[in-house]
Amino acid sequence: MNINRRIQTLDEFTIQQLRAFPQATGELSMLLRDIGLASKRVNVEVNKAGLVDILGDAGSVNVQGEDVKKLDVFANNQFIGVLKHGISCAGVGSEENDDIVVFDDEVSNNSKYVMLMDPLDGSGNIDVNVSIGTIFSIYRRVSERGKPCTIEDFLQPGNKQVAAGYVIYGSSTMLVYATKRGVNGFTLDPSIGEFCLSHADIQCPPTGKIYSVNHGNFFQYQDEVRKYINGCQAKDKNSGGPYTQRYIGSMVADVHRNLMKGGIFMYPGTTDKPKGKLRLLYECNPLAFMVEVAGGKATNGQQRILDVQPTELHQRSPLFIGSKDMMEELETFINPS
Ligand code: AHG
Repeated sequence: MNINRRIQTLDEFTIQQLRAFPQATGELSMLLRDIGLASKRVNVEVNKAGLVDILGDAGSVNVQGEDVKKLDVFANNQFIGVLKHGISCAGVGSEENDDIVVFDDEVSNNSKYVMLMDPLDGSGNIDVNVSIGTIFSIYRRVSERGKPCTIEDFLQPGNKQVAAGYVIYGSSTMLVYATKRGVNGFTLDPSIGEFCLSHADIQCPPTGKIYSVNHGNFFQYQDEVRKYINGCQAKDKNSGGPYTQRYIGSMVADVHRNLMKGGIFMYPGTTDKPKGKLRLLYECNPLAFMVEVAGGKATNGQQRILDVQPTELHQRSPLFIGSKDMMEELETFINPS
């Protein structure tokens, strides 16, 4: 073993970042540490999912009307449990809970942040050994400290996010998070149980060769979106088409790949569901924040995702997100000026 090799753990990194802000309290570092801890617990269960009776449906339906998988419930409980007992989070908004979960105790009421999350994105893939993930979004609360947090703390536009990130449970487990200062990725080293900095200062390539969309819905998309998709398949594209189509069904995995390699991900509205499927607050906003910090773009087809003023905890939004040049090309189809 090379003992001179510099390995920086997630905790070391966040504390080092903190030193740039002498007035900082360290609460964000502690919150990220709690997220790392909860995700390691989830990771253990994801890895042994084939061995124990935790695969499959929990037998209930969540607020979105979707079947809840047992691992969804487990992940939700782990994150809420760890954050409730931490000192940095006043409450959580989760895909799995109808209403916000307010941690109404003395320590939590004095906490600076609230968090929104999809505890297990891509849960339809759990049973078939395909990458899944946790998505999180962190806001500074706007309600008075010392009192329980309120729904207003959660209904802030994405441009107010302090930090956002995801954990991807894939061929390795990675935690990637962004603040306005940059996007950094940490790979879980199972031998020491620590997330170690592996992808410093991630930049989204300005263009790429990959487009990700559910082609099964093609005839339900608006004409402009269909024309763009047809363009992605055309051989005579100025940008060197045809592009390659990749769609996993776990947005975390699709967006992670596009963030690293360049590409565009789309979940447009359909004739049946004009607002699409994805949730603004804990799916679109955190990924939009990360991709923008990395140099990419994200819109709902009409407006920058991060500027949308939320009105409901579980509201849905179309999403177009990815490499800057590819997004600008898309905009010439769906939003011509
Ligand atoms: P779920 O967590 O309920 O499996 O949803 C996953 C999300 C997102 O991650 C993915 O890109 C999209 O839904 C897939 O939906 P379609 O099957 O409609 O394409």
